[in-house]
Amino acid sequence: AEYETILVETRGRVGWITLNRPEALNALNSQVCRDVVAAASVFDADEGIGAIVVTGSERAFAAGADIKEMESKNGLEMLMGDHFGGWTQFAAVRTPVIAAVSGYALGGGCELAMMCDIILAADTAKFGQPEINLGVIPGMGGSQRLIRAVGYYKAAELILTGRMMDAAEAERSGLASRVVPAADLLAEAQKTAEAIASKSLPSLYAAKAVLDAALETPMAEGLRLEKHVFASLFDTADQKEGMAAFREKRAPEFKGR
Ligand code: HXC
Repeated sequence: AEYETILVETRGRVGWITLNRPEALNALNSQVCRDVVAAASVFDADEGIGAIVVTGSERAFAAGADIKEMESKNGLEMLMGDHFGGWTQFAAVRTPVIAAVSGYALGGGCELAMMCDIILAADTAKFGQPEINLGVIPGMGGSQRLIRAVGYYKAAELILTGRMMDAAEAERSGLASRVVPAADLLAEAQKTAEAIASKSLPSLYAAKAVLDAALETPMAEGLRLEKHVFASLFDTADQKEGMAAFREKRAPEFKGR
């Protein structure tokens, strides 16, 4: 196979990446990072793909960074090897990404889910940042992304105690976009991804770009960006088509242009 640690599949306009290291509960080692980043980049470059789903197994989305791979490293090796740096490329994908989470999403697994745009959780999902139990802290963005998702006090409690939260708590806290019965997770992910992938691709890229910017820019700057990105979409054929379709009371036929 082209990839060692993931399964890759295209269903209509949706690209699927399934983490596949069952022997390690999908622990994220360097190979997983290379595989996921490569597969996501291929989907991202393909105009036939309008949404990506990342999922794991029923038992685990991912139980974290691979502890056995990290254990013997020293600080200089972690830094100079930029041990988790590849994931930055995954977070920078333009295409909307849905994390379909069943079972454990811990440490790097929770952080991977938070690099996605939508977190669809099975009612069996368990989220947490247990790094403190290993004598370390979140290292793939958890300290920054979790606080933005759930606020300071919830994030601090989770990161300082290392406890897990279930799907219901994750949804209440604003980490899970939506919770569905475990048996429906993959079908719901495909349905949600198809709904997204049916939109105009330039508008999807634009929406993701301004959403991302909102997490790191002051309000006034974010609003200026929105104004320009919004205006730029009026140069697409899809905007004319979308608005004409509304006026003519029919479904739009977007061309991705
Ligand atoms: C490597 C892992 C792993 C991990 C599980 N495994 N998690 N290997 N890295 N993160 C392996 C186990 O060693 C075991 O392999 C197999 O997967 C099954 O796991 P069990 O522990 O036997 O399963 P279970 O008893 O059901 O417990 C499930 C679990 C537990 C609660 C999820 O596996 C667990 O606590 N995992 C570690 C969670 C964690 O601490 N994640 C954060 C990692 S640090 P063998 O071969 O022994 O049977 C991180 C942050 C990165 O992600 C930044 C820090 C620098």
